[in-house]
Amino acid sequence: MDSLFIDGEWVTPADRERIPVLNPATEEVIGSIVDADASDAAAAFAAARKALPGWRALPVGERAAYLDALADAFRDRGEELARLATAEIGMPLAESRGVQAALPEQVLRSTAQAARDLAWEYQDASGSTVIREPVGVVLGITPWNFPVHQLVAKLAPALAAGCTIVLKPAELTPLNALFLADLCAAIGLPPGVVNLVTGRGSTTGETLVQSEAYDLVSFTGSLGIGRHIGEVAGRRIVRATLELGGKSPAVVMSDADLAAAVQTTVKNCFTNAGQKCNAPTRLIVPEARREEAMQIAAAAAASYRLGDPLDDDTTMGPLASEVQREKVLSYVAGARARGARVHGGGAAGFDRGYFVEPAIITDVAESDPVVQEEIFGPVLVLLGHHGEDDAIRLANDSPYGLSAEVWTADPAAARRLAEGIQAGQVRINGVRSPNPPIAPFGGYKASGLGRELGSFGLEEYLEVKAVLGSFEPVEED
Ligand code: NAI
Ligand code: MG
Repeated sequence: MDSLFIDGEWVTPADRERIPVLNPATEEVIGSIVDADASDAAAAFAAARKALPGWRALPVGERAAYLDALADAFRDRGEELARLATAEIGMPLAESRGVQAALPEQVLRSTAQAARDLAWEYQDASGSTVIREPVGVVLGITPWNFPVHQLVAKLAPALAAGCTIVLKPAELTPLNALFLADLCAAIGLPPGVVNLVTGRGSTTGETLVQSEAYDLVSFTGSLGIGRHIGEVAGRRIVRATLELGGKSPAVVMSDADLAAAVQTTVKNCFTNAGQKCNAPTRLIVPEARREEAMQIAAAAAASYRLGDPLDDDTTMGPLASEVQREKVLSYVAGARARGARVHGGGAAGFDRGYFVEPAIITDVAESDPVVQEEIFGPVLVLLGHHGEDDAIRLANDSPYGLSAEVWTADPAAARRLAEGIQAGQVRINGVRSPNPPIAPFGGYKASGLGRELGSFGLEEYLEVKAVLGSFEPVEED
């Protein structure tokens, strides 16, 4: 704690401001971090730059082996990591074990495999040699909602590609990032390949982004900050990959099992208290069955047990911060004031912690902020459609396009809906097949630019070079 990880060393700058880290379930201070300044940022970029030639020169199999070693460390220390992440974000421990430990372990292994499988060099039909090369030094800026996964979703492909990285985790949830840096040191990763700089977005984050020392920035977070980072990257003509959230639809057709569709959507929407970029937050059901869906959804919402995220019986923890709680409560109050019907959605009456009861909202205009804007809390909006075309229209009536769910018994309709909805991922009937984390993940429209995970995630960190002509000297006649 209280330190930065730069060039393989823990450094503790003395005269920087410290930022306290709170447990959102108890409001207790559980640590503090350095608000890093421009000299720290410069040191981190310099270390990444210095490490780049050696790291990119390693055979891909050796870089992949480091990722596998880090995955082994996740397997061995996953429980500690899950508990730490729960203390920072308030996610129920069972969820944390899945998404903060097991998922990043799988992402590390599958990214290592994608790197081994990639065609790093080949001859095309013109006889040119096509070569993949690492982009260079990466700046990774991550949010707080799935903090470990979001760091690893940048670190793994960057390292596999042969890039080095400077990571800036969210100031709400930095402790897991320090733990991750410790694991990088423990597996013997060469100094400077991974560097960690902590601090606020407006200070440290802005300083890092304004630096001229990186070749690619990969950001996950809010639309507003993503747009700003994209503008800065655009001026410098460096690549930016942006993952900016969503307002994802779950479309239920009249031939689907309504109860299963609604219950699964509620569950997917309320994971991590709804603080999930791809949460299905707009449930779009046949208008004739909207009332029935409301009853099912309200019953499912009422069955949540809010409380201590370390308690096995808890199914919903607090929101990540007081700011986030106030934001969610004001969205719900606004909808109510505009005449919407709201089930739940109040502040839970606990002495401490940023808890909000899950909410189901219906009887609301299509243009209402709760229908259009990302709330990032346990709020599900229920809309009625008048058939397939109308369902697709409603699904696409959003600035975002990260993901979508489709529920129908008709395979032809499932395909029409999947093709008609503008989203980076479409999930059919709750996805019963195993889903290893290699499917490309990312958004259409304002949900962002680029993809994460699997081979598409790896490509973001690679440049393409075409070598025309033969490496051998041309024989003169
Ligand atoms: P944010 O976009 O402000 O923060 C995300 C990351 O960017 C953090 O590491 C932060 O320190 C950094 N950052 C902030 N300002 C920066 C700047 N000027 N330069 C460089 N880095 C900067 O998100 P915030 O404020 O934590 O959450 C606000 C809303 O954003 C949420 O309510 C939600 O709607 C959305 N969000 C979306 C996420 C997603 O997964 N796409 C994740 C988290 C939040
Ligand atoms: Mg912010």
